[in-house]
Amino acid sequence: MMTALVTGGGGRLGRVISTALKALPNLKTQSAKHAECDLTDLSCLREYVRQCDPDVIVNCAAYTDVDGCEEDPSLAFACNAAGAGNLARVASELGARLVHISTDYVFDGAKSTPYVESDAACPLNAYGRSKLLGEQYVRELLSRHLILRTSWLYGAFERGFIQTILEMAKQQEHLSVVADTFGTPTYAGDLARQVVALLDAELNGTFHCSSQGACTRFEWALLALQLNGFERAGGDEKGIWLLGPGPRRRRIFLAAVGSMSIESRSAPRPLYSVLDNYGLRAQGLDVMPEWAVSFRACFRELTKRMTTAA
Ligand SMILES: NC(=O)c1ccc[n+]([C@@H]2O[C@H](COP(=O)([O-])OP(=O)(O)OC[C@H]3O[C@@H](n4cnc5c(N)ncnc54)[C@H](OP(=O)(O)O)[C@@H]3O)[C@@H](O)[C@H]2O)c1
Repeated sequence: MMTALVTGGGGRLGRVISTALKALPNLKTQSAKHAECDLTDLSCLREYVRQCDPDVIVNCAAYTDVDGCEEDPSLAFACNAAGAGNLARVASELGARLVHISTDYVFDGAKSTPYVESDAACPLNAYGRSKLLGEQYVRELLSRHLILRTSWLYGAFERGFIQTILEMAKQQEHLSVVADTFGTPTYAGDLARQVVALLDAELNGTFHCSSQGACTRFEWALLALQLNGFERAGGDEKGIWLLGPGPRRRRIFLAAVGSMSIESRSAPRPLYSVLDNYGLRAQGLDVMPEWAVSFRACFRELTKRMTTAA
């Protein structure tokens, strides 16, 4: 029987991937939380991974607070770059394969067509720079690696973009959502299925792995609110009026704003970070669905811990 280790197993994606791997009959999966297995401590990491002795490691551990990374780049680089390198080193010593999760934020967003794997990476912020350096360490230190760049992850998480929008819609009459940033919402459950599909393929290298299609944060928020029972009731280029579900039919305004108007952010974001899964498609291995189809299908799961906005 093969053994898998999921690092960052207590995080949003880590939990989803651990659950998917634990459901596989011929795989014994160990999920390691940050406190048990810290990527920045090489000797503890080596000891932990040796004891698990995995055939494959799926690395979901990262410092993912994009503005936090900007404010404390040393923390970002310690985990996302040096930490990823430590894991690749240990995997190499033990002969394990590494599936390492990376990000669309390695690109600067200057393109207006989807990024393929051969496009030059040029991150705009410390998070993206630290993740890019982590990729480079993984490539240099371990030949049996699979780097999967994904984007705009969502799921039945306690926190996330959609959860925030639905909570705000319950409490506020005016919601400002960025309308000039294009990307692809990717369901963590779909990414987990893609990782499972790649476990048996002895594929090495860097691959884009997001859902298909693209939207703005504004379009994504609008679809979420409509699926939550809100109906369009007019609007203009500044935004859209929506009528809430239930007898009260609360009116809210979804304002379309530019990303530069969000003053609380310290890190710049790429305006366009749509990924093309060119590499996986070329190998006949791309199982990622169209984003809106997947979002509609799993919407109830996302909101099951929330009460309906009324
Ligand atoms: N979320 C997105 O939209 C998105 C988009 C593109 C790519 N990604 C990538 O997807 C992966 C998973 O992201 P996520 O959204 O699941 O992030 P997450 O919820 O923040 O989970 C990351 C996990 O890593 C842990 N961690 C942080 N520093 C660590 C360290 N030094 N050693 C070991 N574990 C550490 C965190 O633990 P603590 O919380 O206890 O520190 C957390 O449990 C990351 O590689 C991220 O870059 C995410």
